[in-house]
Amino acid sequence: MKSRAAGKVDSQGRACEQVLEEVLYEALLKRRPADRALADCFKRNRQYGARDRRLLTESVFSVFRWWGWLRSLLSNQARQALAPGELNRRMTEGGVDSEKHSRLRSHNTPRPCLFRDDAVRLLLGAWVLDNPQDLPLAADVWTESLELAEIQVRKICRRPKAETRFNEYSQALGLHMQPATWDCLLPEWARSELAKWALPELDEKEFLRRLQQRPPVWIRAQKKWNARALAAALEKCGVETELHPRLPQALRVTTRKVSLYAVEPFRQGAFEIQDLASQLIGLVCRPEAGQRWWDCCAGAGGKSLQLADLMGGSGTVVASDIRAGKLADLQRRARRGGYDNIITRAWKGKPIPRKASTFHGVLVDAPCTCSGTWRRNPDRRWAVLPSELESRTKLQLRLLRAAASGVAPDGVLVYATCSWFQPENQGVVEQFLASNPHFSLEPFTHPLTGAKTDGTMQVWPGDGDCDAVFAARMRKT
Ligand SMILES: C[S@@+](CC[C@H](N)C(=O)[O-])C[C@H]1O[C@@H](n2cnc3c(N)ncnc32)[C@H](O)[C@@H]1O
Repeated sequence: MKSRAAGKVDSQGRACEQVLEEVLYEALLKRRPADRALADCFKRNRQYGARDRRLLTESVFSVFRWWGWLRSLLSNQARQALAPGELNRRMTEGGVDSEKHSRLRSHNTPRPCLFRDDAVRLLLGAWVLDNPQDLPLAADVWTESLELAEIQVRKICRRPKAETRFNEYSQALGLHMQPATWDCLLPEWARSELAKWALPELDEKEFLRRLQQRPPVWIRAQKKWNARALAAALEKCGVETELHPRLPQALRVTTRKVSLYAVEPFRQGAFEIQDLASQLIGLVCRPEAGQRWWDCCAGAGGKSLQLADLMGGSGTVVASDIRAGKLADLQRRARRGGYDNIITRAWKGKPIPRKASTFHGVLVDAPCTCSGTWRRNPDRRWAVLPSELESRTKLQLRLLRAAASGVAPDGVLVYATCSWFQPENQGVVEQFLASNPHFSLEPFTHPLTGAKTDGTMQVWPGDGDCDAVFAARMRKT
């Protein structure tokens, strides 16, 4: 008879298989963000404790991170079931008209059936690739179910190079495939978009390697806390951090598996969780004390809070967004930080009246493909469609033109995205400047390197172990 501990490991392994099947379907076919699909799944399955949820989350995210390689381990049936466009094909075959389409997308469509072997190959492969030194106990269950020898898996895990581990793992499964190449880890359309612009500063191989690493957590000290004092306060709560050598408010969290929302300094509003790349955008805006700024695509207000902090709590930040729910989140965060100079307003992307053009600065942190966060959200690499790049570009230009109407004479306009796709970055700025001759790029100092820019900045993950972002600073002349 199996011991209780072995039974628990068994059921954890099975839970990973079921959850993976559901999230693959939601993320790849319905294109829902994997973190939201996972959250729904946890809500329906209250029996998962904190440790189970961590294992499930890490396993699912590792599968997406290495999906470009791992999908080649699938049976033909599973590969077909998860192919892009499969959901639409089923809809059309079933004679579903387009009106009912979106409703059906969220409810009735049957989930594809991964064979147990498919799910297990993906899960064990994901751990072998992503975290070979720290395989979970469930890996023993998967190893047994694939009829592999433990000693064989351990040997593969000792190989330092991910491509060697993958090639040996697929051979152990009896599959004879082409050796793994790094470029398969991005969808083809995204790779050709990258190649089209032949960026001189970018080492493409290094970029792809960075995309495969788990990103660190960055926080931003605020409310008159300096980074050193915050690091000491966090250490007392068991959270280790490192100060950034150039950015005085930025700290990298080095303790893993810690809930930052639960520590006392967070409750006191001493810091916000904000990626380093996102923090750079506030520094490009460089608002001054007493000024009026408009953060027109504020979302939950990561950058509104930073702008308010940089102004030392004086002046005003008007934060708007099309999603009212997000602004409510911002209000909560502003209360925690004690920023009463942030005002929230709904904004649907229309130009504002001339008499309201009173802002010293306007930040347009535009909705984008979010390719810059694909390291953090690896499922999105496989969910974003090339057509979205085109539609986003149109929306971005419309929002930038509308937001520019709020800039006072001699004021600043900052356009930002968390993307590395040229068309939604330099492309949008060039089109905007071509039809708005009273704006021009304003060179600024790159906050990470100290170098003078031409008024635009593209940050890559390798520049600061962070997301990728783009920013352009313009002045109304
Ligand atoms: C990149 S996110 C902003 C993130 C936010 N600035 C932060 O730092 O957390 C882009 C935001 O633009 C908003 N948005 C999308 N379409 C919009 C529209 N048509 N008008 C105004 N806001 C829009 C989205 O709701 C989203 O919150």
